[in-house]
Amino acid sequence: MLRSVLVGPPASRDNPRAVRAERNSLSLFGAQWGDEGKGKIIDHLAAEVDVVVRYQGGANAGHTVVVGDEKYVLHLIPSGVLHPGKVNVIGGGVAVDPLKLLEELDGLAERGVHVGPDALRLSASAHVILTHHRRIDGAAERWRGMGRIGTTGRGIGPCYADKAARTGLRVCDLIEPARFRERLRAALAEKNALLEQVHGEAPLSLDEELERYAGVADRLRPFVGDTGAELRRWDAEGRRILFEGAQGALLDIDAGTYPFVTSSNTGTAGIAAGAGFPSNRLGRAVGIAKAYCTRVGEGPFPSEEHGEVGERLRAAGGEYGATTGRPRRCGWLDVPALRYALELNGAQGWIMTKLDALNGFEEIPVGVGYRRRGGAESGGAEERWDTWPAHLADVGELEVVWERLPGWTGDLSGARRLEDLPEAARAYVAWVEERVGTPIVAISVGPARDQIIRRGL
Ligand code: GDP
Ligand code: IMO
Ligand code: MG
Repeated sequence: MLRSVLVGPPASRDNPRAVRAERNSLSLFGAQWGDEGKGKIIDHLAAEVDVVVRYQGGANAGHTVVVGDEKYVLHLIPSGVLHPGKVNVIGGGVAVDPLKLLEELDGLAERGVHVGPDALRLSASAHVILTHHRRIDGAAERWRGMGRIGTTGRGIGPCYADKAARTGLRVCDLIEPARFRERLRAALAEKNALLEQVHGEAPLSLDEELERYAGVADRLRPFVGDTGAELRRWDAEGRRILFEGAQGALLDIDAGTYPFVTSSNTGTAGIAAGAGFPSNRLGRAVGIAKAYCTRVGEGPFPSEEHGEVGERLRAAGGEYGATTGRPRRCGWLDVPALRYALELNGAQGWIMTKLDALNGFEEIPVGVGYRRRGGAESGGAEERWDTWPAHLADVGELEVVWERLPGWTGDLSGARRLEDLPEAARAYVAWVEERVGTPIVAISVGPARDQIIRRGL
């Protein structure tokens, strides 16, 4: 009896729920500060699934997919879109900028990728980012001054703030013109007061805004539905679903380096609420992390390399923001930070990307812990941590404890099996895997779809 309560009745042909015993979903999330190569990996795996789902974030994301000679940067549309016949879902937890979405659809169509309502589903309950959100994002950053976050300026924080304050507008409001007009009028009454009186900016005109969004409802309406219900049905039918995280674990609103974070739950914790998909139906979770580390925007990054070494890493990895073009801050792999990200998200495995970018470094430092000289009250004794000190207000003040591994030379981009890698590169992978304690299920050695070594993915 207890068994059947805990795991359900055994599978049988007569039992239509039998297929549900198998969990067909896979979740992929960024395990650093974003830009780990999620777009590339998700596009690679999309060939093997039926549905790809974005469940949080918005057009702050920039996911790069390289197909042959063509490079696509996706912001809102899931990275399965370049595979014909797949369904791509923008879930209710995504902050949707409707103008950016249409721009993205048009940009794809210009390149011969036509995305219709069969290939893209948009949740009616997703919140929308409007002009005032983008304006307030910029104004709030100026207001913060030296304490600025370095946001992407896409209106993400103000949109999620309105959602939590219960004053936001949703896709279901946007596609009903009379309702949209009324809700926007109410929103602008408050937002214009904020823009004018706090930030000293010109107010927005309701008529101009209505004009800006005219036509959006008609274009988006065919894509809109109850995507949570669709996903739950497809799951019951045994379709394979891939959840595409945006940003990274250390940018998570709850678990990241607050306040230098984004405004959503960036990993597996965000899926149930953001996709309308029960958490006990989630299958394997797999993290994605570079062989080194980057961060865009402000905030702590203990293993960051300033100066020449950082510049060399930036050049080697082509580390410029896919959304804003900003140079990314670069540094070495931080093992405790990665371990924390994988643990937190329940990862059964992780994928190491951009190993090829480390070619030619004589030695490769890796962060394995942190230390801080104690204050007078501790007699100046040194404090040390070999786990991510999430309880500290500012991990950026800590010094990193390093270990150094031998580097290698040689072109890794053609490697498809572990044996194809130079010995020192293999040793690096094995050492990191052992230290992190979670299996590396694939290694990416270039931006293209097939530049990957799979071992258990
Ligand atoms: P995402 O936000 O996690 O999807 O990552 P981005 O697209 O913002 O940044 C990753 C960058 O690295 C893109 O330019 C990718 O084309 C590129 N890339 C992804 N995987 C690899 C890899 O294994 N090697 C190299 N050299 N580049 C990669
Ligand atoms: P993908 O999905 C890297 C960063 C911003 C800023 C902070 C808050 O491509 O990995 P926001 O605009 O979200 O309010 O900015 O988060 N950030 C990202 N950094 N990759 C991203 O997305 C990011 N999305 C937001 O730089 O520090
Ligand atoms: Mg990116």
